[in-house]
Amino acid sequence: MFPPYSSLLAAAMTACALQVTIADSPSPNNAYINYTTITGYFLQDEPSTNSTTFDFMTTNFGLINRTYPADNSALKNLTQWQRFEHQVYQLNRQAPRGTEYKLLYMGRHGDGYHNDAQAYYGTPAWNCYYSELDGNAAVTWADAHLSPLGVTQALAVNAFWASEIEYQKIPTPQSYYTSPLTRCLQTANYTFNGLNVRAVHPFVPEVKEYFRETISGHTCDRRSNESYIHDSFPTYKIEPGFTFNDELWEALRGETNDDQDIRSKKVLDQVFSTDRSTFISITSHSGEIGSILRVVGHQVFGLNTGAAIPVLVKAQIIDGSAPTTAFEPFTALCTCTSPPPMTATTSMCSYPTST
Ligand SMILES: *[C@@H]1O[C@H](CO)[C@@H](O)[C@H](O)[C@H]1NC(C)=O
Ligand SMILES: *[C@@H]1O[C@H](CO)[C@@H](O)[C@H](O)[C@H]1NC(C)=O
Ligand SMILES: *[C@@H]1O[C@H](CO)[C@@H](O)[C@H](O)[C@H]1NC(C)=O
Ligand SMILES: *[C@@H]1O[C@H](CO)[C@@H](O)[C@H](O)[C@H]1NC(C)=O
Ligand SMILES: *[C@@H]1O[C@H](CO)[C@@H](O)[C@H](O)[C@H]1NC(C)=O
Ligand SMILES: *[C@@H]1O[C@H](CO)[C@@H](O)[C@H](O)[C@H]1NC(C)=O
Repeated sequence: MFPPYSSLLAAAMTACALQVTIADSPSPNNAYINYTTITGYFLQDEPSTNSTTFDFMTTNFGLINRTYPADNSALKNLTQWQRFEHQVYQLNRQAPRGTEYKLLYMGRHGDGYHNDAQAYYGTPAWNCYYSELDGNAAVTWADAHLSPLGVTQALAVNAFWASEIEYQKIPTPQSYYTSPLTRCLQTANYTFNGLNVRAVHPFVPEVKEYFRETISGHTCDRRSNESYIHDSFPTYKIEPGFTFNDELWEALRGETNDDQDIRSKKVLDQVFSTDRSTFISITSHSGEIGSILRVVGHQVFGLNTGAAIPVLVKAQIIDGSAPTTAFEPFTALCTCTSPPPMTATTSMCSYPTST
């Protein structure tokens, strides 16, 4: 199935990169990558952790205090994060070929103007009417930008990373990805700008289409064009093949959960089959991170705006054809022809609808 790795492995060993990643493997025919979450390392993996009240910034990112199989006396004085990093490299060194472990640091963007508008109008009125508009007299929420609160949240996460780097020696991301929506482009910048990271792994995120939010028909999820992204964030890389305009968003129609999971799997496959990094940052959205968590078999874990979650993922190349999942057509949004009352508490479909 796979060609001999001996020469590759020998080269990797002498280069101190003691592992063969899936990205080093030729893309095999008739095989697919399957993802599993490795639990036991983070509080966010424990069914007893309440995501509503959990704060990753007061809990060392949720890293559980424990010993690891890879611990040894030479590591005794190292921090929990240093020993965790060592443990992950050990898992990779011992992994059979075609199996790899990566830690994904997934961060949700800070509060955006669309979050504020949804809170202001109430979810039923937002979903059936206001979310289809570009904004109101006061603010724009199409491709929503961070509100001042959202900037503050992202800067607090920046201070948290700085402290984790200084006191915990946390392994900083070796590569960075972000959704193309402005609130994520901004959040990634405020979160990672100016940190004391290793010079070999500078903060240069890659914009990837499929890390975008659920394609919902809401204008907040319609991205801006490539030249806007490039001009606003000139240091960012934009993935090859990124279309100039948003070709995926459709007014009044949205992708299904199953379709979203299919593209979340595709974007993970792209990352795992091209990126040798073990520690990876992804700046994305509540709906999209929820979908990635489903794909990697993690328990449901909601993130507040600005929150981040580390997930240790095992990727395994499995022989055979991937379980087939059919692409479903977008479904029509249920909308209201006129503004519903802001006090509405019932679902959007109890109003006169136009789809
Ligand atoms: C989680 O915490 C919230 C807020 O305190 C509470 O309303 C909810 O019931 C808790 N959930 C569980 C499963 O305990
Ligand atoms: C983990 O260990 C550190 C240092 O020993 C301690 O400050 C912290 O309270 C512990 N955390 C938990 C959740 O037990
Ligand atoms: C750990 O720290 C103690 C106290 O500073 C020191 O005596 C000991 O040699 C250190 N152990 C290792 C393995 O570095
Ligand atoms: C990026 O972050 C820096 C540091 O917080 C800030 O000064 C700058 O304005 C941000 N740039 C954008 C485009 O948001
Ligand atoms: C790209 O988007 C920007 C900002 O919305 C707009 O000003 C510009 O005209 C657009 N460029 C093209 C070629 O559509
Ligand atoms: C693929 O991963 C899922 C968890 O995400 C697991 O339940 C399943 O057994 C794995 N499939 C194979 C063929 O290993």
